Amino acid sequence: MYRLIYKSRAVEDMDWEIVEQILHHSEANNALAGITGFLLASRTHFLQVIEGTFEEINDTYLRIVRDTRHEEIQLLSYEVIDARLFESWAMKGIGVFDNNSALARQLIEKYGEQDGGVRFPLEAWLALSMIYDIRAIQELPEWKR
Ligand SMILES: Cc1cc2nc3c(=O)[nH]c(=O)nc-3n(C[C@H](O)[C@H](O)[C@H](O)COP(=O)(O)O)c2cc1C
Repeated sequence: MYRLIYKSRAVEDMDWEIVEQILHHSEANNALAGITGFLLASRTHFLQVIEGTFEEINDTYLRIVRDTRHEEIQLLSYEVIDARLFESWAMKGIGVFDNNSALARQLIEKYGEQDGGVRFPLEAWLALSMIYDIRAIQELPEWKR
């Protein structure tokens, strides 16, 4: 089993509607491929974790990097894991778009700011730490099926 984490820059200003579409599509594909993970979006950046078999992670990542909705993709880590961290989520996500929200303020204070919003870390352990902080602070949104 493998876990891959990357950060990228959104080509357009992101909002929840676009992220919801990505999550919908991803959840369906990932459920079939046995992939689990988490997607974080700010107005300008994405940070995503995907977990699964070597073949499925490679296939999915190759599709993701070719997606023209984002660019400047930085691979933060790709490692062998004993167990999944996001075992119940084929893909769950959250958008941090409102920089005045309590969540954004706390994240900016701890992890810093980039392009006027929350800065997503480049170090994989910090990226996971941020996702764990978000899970602890925030009730994660459900989207319409
Ligand atoms: C930030 C971001 C994250 C994505 N994550 C996933 C993902 O986890 N799984 C997935 O299948 N597609 C993901 N996609 C979509 C893929 O890039 C691609 O559009 C999709 O897999 C194509 O699926 P299809 O062959 O069913 O049309 C993501 C796209 C973006 C922009």
